[in-house]
Amino acid sequence: MSLSVTSLVLLMVCSTQASHFLGTVMTYYPKDTFANGSVTVTLRYKLNFHDCIYDYTWSCLSGDCGTETYTLYVVKQESSGDWCQREGIMTRQVSSNAPFELWFNGGNWIDNTKNGIVSWRAVTRVELRNRSNTGKANTSPQTTILPAVRVPSNCQRDFSLLMFDPDGDEVKCRYGNSSLSECNPCTPPSVLSLSSSSCTLSFSPTNSSNEGSYVVQLVMEDFPRQTITLTKTDGTQTTITTNDAISKIPIQFALKVDPAVPSCTEGLFLPKFLPPTPANGAQLYNNIIQTLEINITAELLYSGPYNLISSTSGPGQFTLRWTPSESEDGQSLPICFVVQAVSGGTKYHSELRCVTVTGANVDTPTTTPTPATTPTTTTTPTTTTTSTSSKTLPASTTPSERSYVTVLKLKMTSLVDLSKIDRDTFLTQVRLPQHMSVRLISSNPQIGATAAPCTGKT
Ligand SMILES: *[C@@H]1O[C@H](CO)[C@@H](O)[C@H](O)[C@H]1NC(C)=O
Ligand SMILES: *[C@@H]1O[C@H](CO)[C@@H](O)[C@H](O)[C@H]1NC(C)=O
Ligand SMILES: *[C@@H]1O[C@H](CO)[C@@H](O)[C@H](O)[C@H]1NC(C)=O
Ligand SMILES: *[C@@H]1O[C@H](CO)[C@@H](O)[C@H](O)[C@H]1NC(C)=O
Ligand SMILES: *[C@@H]1O[C@H](CO)[C@@H](O)[C@H](O)[C@H]1NC(C)=O
Repeated sequence: MSLSVTSLVLLMVCSTQASHFLGTVMTYYPKDTFANGSVTVTLRYKLNFHDCIYDYTWSCLSGDCGTETYTLYVVKQESSGDWCQREGIMTRQVSSNAPFELWFNGGNWIDNTKNGIVSWRAVTRVELRNRSNTGKANTSPQTTILPAVRVPSNCQRDFSLLMFDPDGDEVKCRYGNSSLSECNPCTPPSVLSLSSSSCTLSFSPTNSSNEGSYVVQLVMEDFPRQTITLTKTDGTQTTITTNDAISKIPIQFALKVDPAVPSCTEGLFLPKFLPPTPANGAQLYNNIIQTLEINITAELLYSGPYNLISSTSGPGQFTLRWTPSESEDGQSLPICFVVQAVSGGTKYHSELRCVTVTGANVDTPTTTPTPATTPTTTTTPTTTTTSTSSKTLPASTTPSERSYVTVLKLKMTSLVDLSKIDRDTFLTQVRLPQHMSVRLISSNPQIGATAAPCTGKT
């Protein structure tokens, strides 16, 4: 009797620990090259589970993967407990720039997936050899995805994954291949069709027997646009053509096919993004010392850098804020979001939108030193986009709500210290589309390259 109780307990422990994975994504940026030939690389990876507690590590599959240090941060926890996405920032130091592969291989996905995937497995190939066309090491394609995306079984939907490559390479997607240890096994979902050149997964209306959870296990690769050579620290050269992938990264997540809805028209059951929403794939630039603000309504679900901060600014309005850290200067990072409306216990997702944000001092002041009597101002609203979501839930449950995502970048530079009145005057002079407001988020002195008494305020 006590024996069977014990084994029952063990079984429960096993199944809670083992059935909870909701995918991963890994990307990398090369960091430093040292005189002795050793190199460092920053790898950012998403870890998606039901809870925010599990810490499984990536290990070396092939090559010399060097030594690692990493820190895990929470990106977003879905409010009903469906999932928690964390981001790991890993730095690896390797003795040479020779390629290596990391893999994530271990426990179990969520239970009862329709395509029969049980175990998780994912592979990243890191290529750091010097590229002949850029004169530096390769950077992987940059992308992200939510742990789970939803679609009602009777609605058509395209999931266009973000595919941004900082080196300007051609990016393609394919399903994982089990003989390359990219998944275990790699059975694609029967309900999706993949366009590999646009990295778009298309879902077509299907019958109720196909409802349930599917595991999507993709590999994203970057290909050179011309034949290039890769040079190792010891001088060895390898030539690769436009058919050879340089690096590869995993994108794994769950697709939930929900029960049919009475209407697939956006704005009725399914939340809808209203113009001016940042278009899918938009690239937004942000000064390293400024905060990018995206005012967006319902629950906003997102995936992006760990230092992305979300807040609610009224019914149906969300704000996403991202202030790049010093170490993110010059990096292009992906953000994806959907709006989730919940009605009668059923969750409805808007379409998936993704943008790339670049943290960089794109507008370094070029003003030559002049007698600093009159404030010189340069205003550059480079990005003024608004996204979002409006949802109208079935009939009387909730009045229809409107919401906006606003992405705005504004930089003002002055050679003299500006008073508050001066700054307010400039802000009011900035011409914006109707219904938009501007507010000063930060006012950090920026030390420019110019030799002027640099008290420029932004
Ligand atoms: C190479 O130099 C780096 C930075 O000084 C150091 O951390 C690393 O241990 C050195 N590697 C070897 C193999 O000596
Ligand atoms: C890569 O090669 C270029 C010349 O092709 C050279 O200028 C550069 O220093 C090299 N970079 C590294 C990290 O070795
Ligand atoms: C999987 O990879 C193996 C080894 O590279 C290759 O021979 C095979 O064609 C690949 N399978 C698919 C479906 O691409
Ligand atoms: C649903 O579609 C599957 C194939 O996709 C088919 O085998 C099944 O008979 C269909 N069921 C109904 C109720 O139409
Ligand atoms: C975003 O919403 C917050 C809260 O309502 C507001 O304080 C802020 O000014 C808005 N930002 C923009 C750029 O409209």
